[in-house]
Amino acid sequence: LPLSLMTALFLLQYTDKEEVVLWMNTVGPYHNRQETYKYFSLPFCVGTKKTISHYHETLGEALQGVELEFSGLDITFKEEVMQTTYCDIELDKPKRDAFVYAIKNHYWYQMYIDDLPIWGIVGEADENGEDHYLWTYKKLEIGYNGNRIVDVNLTSEGKVKLVPNTRIPMSYSVKWKKSDVKFEDRFDKYLDPSFFQHRIHWFSIFNSFMMVIFLVGLVSMILMRTLRKDYARYSKEEEMDDMDRDLGDEYGWKQVHGDVFRPSSHPLIFSSLVGSGCQIFSVSLIVIILAMIEDLYTERGSMLSTAIFVYAATSPVNGYFGGSLYAKQGGRRWIKQMFIGAFLIPAMVCGTAFFINFIAIYYHASRAIPFGTMVAVCCICFFVILPLNLVGTILGRNLSGQPNFPCRVNAVPRPIPEKKWFMEPAVIVCLGGILPFGSIFIEMYFIFTSFWAYKIYYVYGFMMLVLVILCIVTVCVTIVCTYFLLNAEDYRWQWTSFLSAASTAVYVYMYSFYYYFFKTKMYGLFQTSFYFGYMAVFSTALGIMCGEYKKTKSLLRDVTIHSTHDSIRFMILISRFDSQFFFFFTK
Ligand SMILES: *[C@@H]1O[C@H](CO)[C@@H](O)[C@H](O)[C@H]1NC(C)=O
Repeated sequence: LPLSLMTALFLLQYTDKEEVVLWMNTVGPYHNRQETYKYFSLPFCVGTKKTISHYHETLGEALQGVELEFSGLDITFKEEVMQTTYCDIELDKPKRDAFVYAIKNHYWYQMYIDDLPIWGIVGEADENGEDHYLWTYKKLEIGYNGNRIVDVNLTSEGKVKLVPNTRIPMSYSVKWKKSDVKFEDRFDKYLDPSFFQHRIHWFSIFNSFMMVIFLVGLVSMILMRTLRKDYARYSKEEEMDDMDRDLGDEYGWKQVHGDVFRPSSHPLIFSSLVGSGCQIFSVSLIVIILAMIEDLYTERGSMLSTAIFVYAATSPVNGYFGGSLYAKQGGRRWIKQMFIGAFLIPAMVCGTAFFINFIAIYYHASRAIPFGTMVAVCCICFFVILPLNLVGTILGRNLSGQPNFPCRVNAVPRPIPEKKWFMEPAVIVCLGGILPFGSIFIEMYFIFTSFWAYKIYYVYGFMMLVLVILCIVTVCVTIVCTYFLLNAEDYRWQWTSFLSAASTAVYVYMYSFYYYFFKTKMYGLFQTSFYFGYMAVFSTALGIMCGEYKKTKSLLRDVTIHSTHDSIRFMILISRFDSQFFFFFTK
């Protein structure tokens, strides 16, 4: 961040006649946003000026396949250039074919001037698709405010028919205009308020908000009423003598108090998932807040760099929650748990990236991640994420690793009674994801569109709201799911509550299929695998994040155990926020 501030303050100021560099970035099919190639992979020619070498500035840039090359155009600050030919393309057969292929696939290219992106189209075909034309004249209009560049417009002119064995001159001109746009606001023209602040967006937020209020009300009312009734029933039964009670028909959640603290099956994976979920949640929260404070979209790759940095920095969170949960469940192989917890997400992301990289290399796409970058990412995993995770795990095991459950676990597991089909964990899991998905899917549309089409996402306030809404809805839904499950005298609540929230991800992934086929025009193996690969990663991460709310739902298990005092009902609210707090009060 200090570096970006410095760049903004010093580097982007020009004196008169100072050199202004036009960087060529990528070229690729318009409909496949992520399928990009180096600009000079098409046989464009380079201007007369000597090249200026460029290195990747940030990790995020490198990972996103930003590969800037100098255009060779001579541009100096505030100096007009009349139409000038900068080079000629000797159009032989292969070069012509390359251009024709690009034009047929609607290729367009991207350039940068002073960090401002500029897009231009490669060429055009006539109606019957037989003749192909190349745009040869780049008309640049640059707006300046004081000694800074604040606006760039590109107009493509000079349509030339592609005929083999001809010489095509490429030309450019530069016009400078005084502009009133403030330097801080120069990215505003790339934003699309009529899309992102559309009534539908506001409406959907409002709608989800209403749903949250309704849901919270419903959950607390149902729980309060049912629990009060349950308490009344249990206390009446307690007054009966033992003989009567043995014969009485006890049922409901109280029956499973001896089993609810039984460790979940596969505690190692379970606690790793929960730890990772806590981490993803904190990363999302911090990144969204940072994005709200600072306009991260104004710099290439800074969003991704920030996310990686925050992810590495929040590793102790993962270790703490994963490690303590594992210790509470009586796990002994804590080192193994730590490794799995630490590398679960990185391995998933890197595995997908690796797979897509193969295809990218096959296609010679600029998205192929350079080897140096891969090494850097591995180093971050081993030398930052792992040690920080270790710190977190040790803290978690020592500070909250004691299984301080209020009652003992029965030696023999209780048999799980037969129940109705809709009380089966699998069904509860499937149904659980519907409401959380319903509360976020409009936002998903906006996020997808900004990532897969050419919109810059900037309404992070909305995203924050949706995250909060998602949080609350997930908590409510899992509380209800767990209550139903325990009431059916099924004590296997850990995985059920985790998965009932995590199943949101399945719905999101299904939605991404819909989005792919009806909202985009992507095609080709590369873009398709890129799309579905990263959508899978995104959905899984989202699922793990949602599932993590297990912690906040410990309320039911507390309720299950504790006595029949009415005051407990108030404790429910508190323990919703922290179960530790709850124990402190009742002791
Ligand atoms: C670029 O185009 C926009 C819209 O046509 C115009 O408002 C702006 O003044 C142009 N900027 C320059 C530098 O010509």
